[in-house]
Amino acid sequence: MTTPLIQLTDIAYRYPLTSKNTVSGLNFKLNRGQVLGVVGVNGSGKTTLCHIIRGFIPSFFQGTLHGEVLINGQSVNQYDDTELSQLIGYIFQNPFTQISGVKETVREEIGYGLENLGKPSSEINRRVDEVISLLNLQPIEYKNPFALSGGQKQLVAIAAILAIDPDIFIFDEPTSQLDPAGTNKVFAIIAQLKEQNKTVIIVEHKLDLMMEYVDQLLVLNRDGTQAMFGQPRRILAHVDPDMEMALPTATQIFRQLQPKYQLANQETVPVTERDIVTTIQKLKRGGDV
Ligand SMILES: Nc1ncnc2c1ncn2[C@@H]1O[C@H](COP(=O)(O)OP(=O)(O)OP(=O)(O)O)[C@@H](O)[C@H]1O
Ligand SMILES: [Mg+2]
Repeated sequence: MTTPLIQLTDIAYRYPLTSKNTVSGLNFKLNRGQVLGVVGVNGSGKTTLCHIIRGFIPSFFQGTLHGEVLINGQSVNQYDDTELSQLIGYIFQNPFTQISGVKETVREEIGYGLENLGKPSSEINRRVDEVISLLNLQPIEYKNPFALSGGQKQLVAIAAILAIDPDIFIFDEPTSQLDPAGTNKVFAIIAQLKEQNKTVIIVEHKLDLMMEYVDQLLVLNRDGTQAMFGQPRRILAHVDPDMEMALPTATQIFRQLQPKYQLANQETVPVTERDIVTTIQKLKRGGDV
């Protein structure tokens, strides 16, 4: 059996000076090359979970952490900072937080992580050129990072992490500041990372788009406990109607069709546009779905 790339066992965490756990009962595994989507209402602990996986909790935020996070079979706390920053890239929910504040151009900002890792300038320049052209950032390459719009900052933050080329990417609401074109660009990059066998964790509210890319889905309850984890088509077949969870449009349509066409409950439900189109085509032919 292969070792999972990321494995969380009985994780529970509370921030300092708080009286109850922020997240608890988290148990899941992710293999190399998989994309995990994380959903939950505001304040359910999605960002906290990202910090736990990348080893920033409890080293940076302190507080009380129980359970174990293994990356490639080794406790995340046993990696040194340099190893960890080459292994896991984190794109902050608020792109303003990610801007270093010490660089005067977007170019330098994108290369800053590599510079910190002590890479030679020829390699830094090559990588920076690559990601600038990948994200079409040429028009802003010599701008001051602080002079950028929220959406541009978000793309620069993504570029800076792509430049490092870690094994694991954690995107915390990477498209919150982006227009539809920018959003599509980010998802195209996620598709590309998947092709490169990178492992991606993405926190995202744009469910329909996310469903096109994720292999596994983690749903957090409001209180930070794990509601569900597994393949989206399977776990969304078992969502309790009382659960306050937004569903993908395809799943909602399927649920609306169910009573009308007397469709039995299924082990799997449609989650993408393609899924629901296939279901409807089968219905039109009079077959089982
Ligand atoms: N440094 C901190 N100290 C104490 N409590 C915190 C801290 N950071 C976050 N929290 C609390 O922990 C809970 C989970 O926060 P978190 O930011 O992880 O949620 P989230 O699901 O990412 O929310 P959002 O959708 O708004 O990004 C919230 O109640 C939040 O107020
Ligand atoms: Mg968050």
